[in-house]
This record gives sequence, structure tokens and C-alpha cells, in this order.
Amino acid sequence: MASFLQNQSFISIDQISTQDQINEIFERADEMKEVILNKKIHEPLRGKCVSILFYQPSTRTFTSFVAASKRLGAYVIDIHGMQAYSSVSKGETLEDTIQTVHQTMGADAVILRHPDNKSGEIARNVSSVPILNAGSGKAEHPTQAVLDLYTIKDHIGKTDNIHVAMVGDLLYGRTVKSLAKLLAVCGNNKITLISPPELAMPKELIEQLSDRVEIVETDDLESNLKNVDVLYMTRVQKEWFEHAGKLDQYEQLKDKFILDNAMANKMPKKSIIMHPLPRVGEILHEVDDNPRAKYFQQMRSGLYTRMALLDLILEG
Ligand code: NCD
Repeated sequence: MASFLQNQSFISIDQISTQDQINEIFERADEMKEVILNKKIHEPLRGKCVSILFYQPSTRTFTSFVAASKRLGAYVIDIHGMQAYSSVSKGETLEDTIQTVHQTMGADAVILRHPDNKSGEIARNVSSVPILNAGSGKAEHPTQAVLDLYTIKDHIGKTDNIHVAMVGDLLYGRTVKSLAKLLAVCGNNKITLISPPELAMPKELIEQLSDRVEIVETDDLESNLKNVDVLYMTRVQKEWFEHAGKLDQYEQLKDKFILDNAMANKMPKKSIIMHPLPRVGEILHEVDDNPRAKYFQQMRSGLYTRMALLDLILEG
């Protein structure tokens, strides 16, 4: 049976609506993990071209998509710094750029990171090949949500009946929005949203999810530490404050939640600490050796799940 993702763009986590779909991705990711750990050659995408266009900075998402595409045997053309170095700086539209990479590279898939919330849809509407959203504005980061949930499954052993606390910038952060939506698909989960009121998750999203997942909003991190399965830390996103001319507000808010080892030790022994990274001070380096800290292993899940997604989309 063909995958629900075959030949499809993957631009929103809303495209995943059942546990079966999650299982399908996770099973393929397990196969990819096996390929990588045993240093096997597995190149189903040989002869295909994957184009990776990033209009915003990235370390993990960019490198793991490059690695995932190459490990699958694809021919990769990756451009970092689209905003500054391509014809975008001359005023070219996203639509025209998408047409261009199809013509000049013969791309079979385009992986796109862009500051516009709607960039995934805009690209999909003009593209004749699948678009994978590698982060769109403040709205979505669907492949990050998949790798985050895969990490949770790996370390907690399940993705339902768990308590996830999301901490930090829930207004501008896109990873927390996509992950909250995906946790709502899994059933019987509780999400505690911990942020200053100025950085609260948008009300419409909370309303949209609240019949499928229990959501509690608070600005109190300390009293939640003892009962979480997953503590998902995020950075306060300076660039969006800058964009809105509110850098003084950023300075007031950026250090509201800082996780140190004493706090981490109050968490249950089997709980985990995650972070999409980069961190800019919200998790002290002393926490890195805490057995609960999984934010470095979390990055490796990105390789397995992105290989799985590319394989499902391009090969079925
Ligand atoms: C995040 C992003 O770009 O949204 N990073 C990532 O992709 N791992 C988080 C962030 O920039 O804060």
C-alpha cells in the first residue's frame, strides 16, 4: 500500500492526523536508524535531485537534511543564505524561485526554510514536485515535531498518557506549536505551557487543540518540575522582537526561565529534558551531564526521521 506521504508535500503537521500515520513514519525511521548504525549502504534516491533552500539561519535542520538526502543517495544542491546571496536580494518572489530550482536543477523535491508563515503553501501551489517545510516563520516546523516525538518515544517508551511541559517563547517559537499539534494526535496527553504572559501560545491554537489534549497555562516552572515526563525548553526568539522593534522587551523577558542542575534534579528520574536548539542561556551547561538531558541525542533523531520522510515522500 502506498504511503500517505507518497508524492505529497509535507508543509504542515496537520497532515498527520492518525496514530497509524505516525507509526508508519516511525517504522521507516527505525529502519533508517538501523542503516546508519550498521553503516549500511541504502540509496533508494539515487538519480534523484533534492534541492535545499534556506532563507533563515540553521545548523541542525540544514545539516541533517543534507546528510539525510545524501545518505539516501540523492544528488543534493543546497543553498544557505538565500535572502542575501540569491536573486531574492533583487526582489525575486518565492514563487519564481521555486519555478527556477525546478528548471535549473531538475529538483525532485525542495526543502524550504523561510520567514513567511505561509511559505510552505505558497511554494506548494507553484511547485510540480513535493515541498518539505523545514520551518515556516512563526507558524510551523513539522519535521522538527516528528523528530521530537520520535525522541520522546525512544526515551519515554510511549507517546500517549504523558505530561509535556513547554517552556519559554511559545508565541514566536514554531517548534512548540507543531509538537503540541502532534501530541494532540497521540491521545490522552497533558501539555503545560510555561511562559511569561507576553510570550504565551496563541489562544486560537490552544482552543483548536483543547478537546484532544489537556492544556494548562502558567508562568510557574518550579512547581511543575516534579511531575513532568518531558521538559521542552525553548529560547526567546530575539530576531522576531528585533523585527517588531521591541528589543527592550526581549531584554526583560530573555532570562525568565533558566534551567540549572538543581532544578533538573527535581524532575522525576525517568523524565527527559529536550530543546530544539540553539540554546542561548536557558539551559546552563552544567545540565548537559544530567542523565535527563537528551537535547543532543534529540538531534540524531532528526537524521533518522528526515531520511524516513524523504524516503516515504519520494519512494512511497
Ligand atoms: C528551531 C527553529 O529554527 O525553529 N531550531 C531548529 O530548527 N532546531 C528553534 C529556534 O530557532 O529557536
